[in-house]
Amino acid sequence: MSVRKPVIAGNWKMHMTCVQTKQYLSQFLPLIQSTSDDRHLVIAPPFTAISTFAESALGSRLELSSQNVHWEDDGAFTAEVSPLMLLEHDVRYAIVGHSEPRKYFSESDEQINRRAISAQAHGLIPIVCVGETDDQRERGEEERVIRRQVEQGLEEIDPKRLVVAYEPIWAIGTGKTCEASEANRICGLIRKWVDAPDLIVQYGGSVKPGNIDEIMNMSDIDGVLVGGASLDPESFARIANYKRK
Ligand code: PGA
Repeated sequence: MSVRKPVIAGNWKMHMTCVQTKQYLSQFLPLIQSTSDDRHLVIAPPFTAISTFAESALGSRLELSSQNVHWEDDGAFTAEVSPLMLLEHDVRYAIVGHSEPRKYFSESDEQINRRAISAQAHGLIPIVCVGETDDQRERGEEERVIRRQVEQGLEEIDPKRLVVAYEPIWAIGTGKTCEASEANRICGLIRKWVDAPDLIVQYGGSVKPGNIDEIMNMSDIDGVLVGGASLDPESFARIANYKRK
């Protein structure tokens, strides 16, 4: 029997003010009141809304994630946030290596690795994102690219306190979901490369209420990382309440 408890995570990206966060939670929390506790429910608000989120979700089962974390505890790192700052707000997870900072801020696998190591050292669970571009997939390079990201990004990382999110870049925010069977194949390969049978591997990329059940019925997919559809409380509640056959 697998002990892999699925992690359903919403990534709000650069959306949601504090006022909107409160409104969202007042609609969303009642919708997950009877959600089975066989799954973790997580949201990653922007840094400015973390404190409001923590207060408004207090006493609920919803867990908090940050959208990034720095490897130092403090220092001259303008625009960065340290693990200690997150722990003050009961943050439990930290997304690292999302394709947007990889693309817009040239995040390297080495930096991502340092962020993940620091997260774990402070008791945070890193959600490390990996995934290939459209061109890389067309050239048949997806396995090589993802394997390199996994090997470099996860060096010295404890797989028992880790989530890996397979997010094919061509499926993020495009409405083009990866076929569930193909996402399942890659998630299985990631688990094999990390050599940890209990590793939690999520799929991300245009996950919606209409495809969540199919995705969550795949044997090697242990949850989802959801962007756009997590911004609407009803859509994300439907995703949180996915049904397995
Ligand atoms: P999407 O984003 O669900 O809007 O495609 C996923 C992500 O970036 O994590």
